[in-house]
Amino acid sequence: MGIDSSIFGPASPGAEAILKLFGTLTLFSAVIFAIVLGGTIYSVVRFRAKPGQGEPRQVFGHTRLEILWTVAPAALILVIGVLSFNTLRVVDPARNGQPPELILTGHQWWWEVEYPQAGFVTANEIHIPVGQPVWIQIESADVVHDFWVPKLGRKMDAIPGRSNYLRLEADTPGVYLGACAEFCGVQHAWMRLRVIAQTPAEYAAWQQAQAAIPPPPTETIAVQGAKRFQELTCVNCHTIGGSPAQANAGPDLTHIASRQTLGAGVLENNTANLTGWLTNPQAVKPGNQMPHFTLSSADLSALVAYLETLR
Ligand code: CUA
Repeated sequence: MGIDSSIFGPASPGAEAILKLFGTLTLFSAVIFAIVLGGTIYSVVRFRAKPGQGEPRQVFGHTRLEILWTVAPAALILVIGVLSFNTLRVVDPARNGQPPELILTGHQWWWEVEYPQAGFVTANEIHIPVGQPVWIQIESADVVHDFWVPKLGRKMDAIPGRSNYLRLEADTPGVYLGACAEFCGVQHAWMRLRVIAQTPAEYAAWQQAQAAIPPPPTETIAVQGAKRFQELTCVNCHTIGGSPAQANAGPDLTHIASRQTLGAGVLENNTANLTGWLTNPQAVKPGNQMPHFTLSSADLSALVAYLETLR
């Protein structure tokens, strides 16, 4: 949705190191390509058969040439190896037992985001303090997914039954678009996420707001929505902090109105889109795990009014 996510605009030391390595290797490849192509064209022109010419001199074995084309590629591979190890030191440093700031779990097709120390769960949006590396632990609830935010660095697989760790950081405040980068089923393309890098003060305020229980609704329609949320099937899959809804099959909705998108990036989060999603989630994102309930229009507007109070 209009957010730049190009690898050519790195916004972290890791992404910069990867881009630099990519540039160097592309340059190496270009030089080798030019030498090979130039040599081929030269040979084709210079040594082409002329009328009346017999078979040219046949050469078998050329020690100097053979040494050259063994040593030169080996040296080149060694240089590339050293450059790669230096890049890896930046993008994949040792964790040394540091606890993760957040635990990211891939689901078909959304991301669960838990901040264990602050004690809350959200979805599809990761907030980090700008300029401060944070460790994230990456898990999967079902199949193999892959976390990738191109402007912030390397990818990391989410593998069922295994914890992977990645150091995430951003140089400048902003919103960074990420996506699942491993085919994981029908809605793989709509398994997006956002990393929102904030000043430490904004980040602390965000954490505090997310950890708080939202105040109960006061408007009549929203009060009705809160009641219907518990009576209808919503409660079987979702959690809303401070309410009896405590299920974990779908995203935690405690502060859903504070999030930028719905359905892991498929829709911008606003009243019309939330209404559309609740009307028929299968029409918006076919195959997703939320069933199509036929809600009465009274229930629909009550639920939307309630969910929009959850800031
Ligand atoms: Cu998850 Cu692709």
